[in-house]
Amino acid sequence: MKTIGVLTGGGDAPGLNAAIRAIVITAEKHGLKVKGILDGWGGMLEGRCRDLTSEDVEDMHKVPGTMLGSVRKNPFKIDGGPEKVKENFKKVGIDALIAMGGEDTLGVAAKLADMGAKVVGAPKTIDGDLSATDYTMGFDTGVGVATEAIDRVHATMRSHHRVGVVEVMGRHAGWMTLVSGIASGAHCILLPEFPFEVDEVCGIVKKRKGKHTVIAVAEGAKPKSMGELVTKDSEKDEFGHVKLGGIADILAKEIEERTGVTSRAIVLGHTQRGGIPTARDRLLGTKLGVKVVELLLDGEYGKMASVKGNGVVSVPLKDAVGVLRTVPKEEYELAKLFFG
Ligand code: F6P
Repeated sequence: MKTIGVLTGGGDAPGLNAAIRAIVITAEKHGLKVKGILDGWGGMLEGRCRDLTSEDVEDMHKVPGTMLGSVRKNPFKIDGGPEKVKENFKKVGIDALIAMGGEDTLGVAAKLADMGAKVVGAPKTIDGDLSATDYTMGFDTGVGVATEAIDRVHATMRSHHRVGVVEVMGRHAGWMTLVSGIASGAHCILLPEFPFEVDEVCGIVKKRKGKHTVIAVAEGAKPKSMGELVTKDSEKDEFGHVKLGGIADILAKEIEERTGVTSRAIVLGHTQRGGIPTARDRLLGTKLGVKVVELLLDGEYGKMASVKGNGVVSVPLKDAVGVLRTVPKEEYELAKLFFG
C-alpha cells in the first residue's frame, strides 16, 4: 500500500479536520501518501481529489467544518455508481480509502466493503446517534454550542417573563437536546424518541406562575396528536431524509394561545455544526485518525474505528449502521426529574 484516500460525507462536524490532520501525519510516518477526496462520495464518483501533506494540515485541528468539503451523495442511488467508485480508486490513485461520516456515509462504506473495496471508517455526527461507538466527532462541540445558546435564552426570557422554545438539531435521536437541555437547566425537554402532549408542556408553563420557562425541543420531536415529523419541505435527499424544522414555531404559538404567556421560538440550526472544535473533539478526531490508518496498515477493511470508554477499538462497519443509537427511557426519566 502506497497511497490512501480520505473523504468526509454527510453534515460536517467539528473534529473532522483534526482527524484529517492525524491521518496525514500518521500516514507520512509510515511512508504513505494521502489524497483528500473532495465532497464525499461525490468526489469518488467524479474522481476529484487533492494531495494532502503534513504542511497542508498544519493547525487544522482547530478549524471547524471539513477542509475536504461534503455533499450528501449516495453512489447506490446512481446506476453503476458503486462500480464507478471502485474503478475510481485507480483514477484518483489510491490503494485504500478512509470514509468519515455518520450512518449514511458509513452505510455506503459498509456496502462497498462487502463488494471487496478496501474501505475503513470513522464515526462523525453531531447528532451522536451512531451505533457501535460511545461517541462521534462533533457531538461535544455541538452540545457545547447548544448549551451556551440555551443559557442565553434563559437570560432574556427571564427578563421578559416569557417562554423560550429552543429548537436543537437531532433528526431521530434527541442526544443533543437531552444533554444541552439538562446542562442548561431547561424546564422541559422534548425528544424524537418520546412523542409529547402539548397540554403537558403548557401545564409546566402554567405551574411556573409567571416565571420564565425554557423548553429545549429536538427538531425531530413531535406532539402525539401530529403523528408526522414537522418538515420544511417534502423533498428528500439521496439518503431519504426530509429537511426538518418548524416544531419550535408550532409549539411556541400553541403555548401562547393555550396559556396566554408570550412565547418565542429560537432555532439554533447550523450554528451547532459550525462551532470551534472543543478539546475533546480535537482529541477524539486525533485518536480516530491514528486508528483508521492503523486499520488500513493491518488490512482490517470493512472496519470502523470506534470509541469505547477512553480507548479506540475496531468494530465491523456493519455494526455501526442500520440501527440508530437513540435515547433510552431511563435517560429521559432522569431529565424529567428536573422539569418544571
Ligand atoms: O448532520 C446531522 C444534521 O446536522 C441533523 O441534525 C440535521 O437534521 C441535518 O444534519 C441538517 O442537514 P443539512 O445540513 O443538509 O441541512
